[in-house]
Amino acid sequence: MTGLIFVLAYLLGAVPFGIVVARLFGLGDLRKIGSGNIGATNVLRTGNRLAALLTLVLDVGKGAFAVLLARLLIGEGAAMIAGLGAFLGHCFPVYLLFRGGKGVATFLGTALALSWPVGLAVCVTWAVIAGLMRISSLAALVAAALAPLYALLGGQGALAGVLAGMAVLIFLRHHTNIRRLIRGEEPKIGAKG
Ligand code: G3P
Repeated sequence: MTGLIFVLAYLLGAVPFGIVVARLFGLGDLRKIGSGNIGATNVLRTGNRLAALLTLVLDVGKGAFAVLLARLLIGEGAAMIAGLGAFLGHCFPVYLLFRGGKGVATFLGTALALSWPVGLAVCVTWAVIAGLMRISSLAALVAAALAPLYALLGGQGALAGVLAGMAVLIFLRHHTNIRRLIRGEEPKIGAKG
């Protein structure tokens, strides 16, 4: 049963909403725009705020939906497996030959649904860093790094473990962003690219 939950959550998480939304809005192939990433930050580089917001909501939503449904049908253990499945689906989608996104929005949705206080703290962290620095990747990296600590502070060891695993993958998938951050060349949020 757990395996089935993981596969179904993976297949949902693998839906590349950024690419779908960009196509529906006539913005072209997102993989050929800006950073080439399939997330909301890159959709925003097209200048279409509504498409970016829709991508963000759908990418957050697929993580949250997978977790909430698994919890409702089975229980907390299955909810964590579903969150992991949706997150990995976004990062390695079968529909795009496993070349997916950086996982941030789906990570936020998963964290919110697994534990809303922890998820809220992670989202607020993202928003504060993004508001101060205007750099999406930096906000994502700080929020991902702090997520397991927030879970530990809340006494949720298993959740901390799951979030730490996801945070490691988020860092790995941001390696080009990290190099640009070090060089001081990472673009600000919304800058056309
Ligand atoms: O959520 C993705 C963000 O952290 C970085 O996106 O397009 O700037 O590589 P991008």
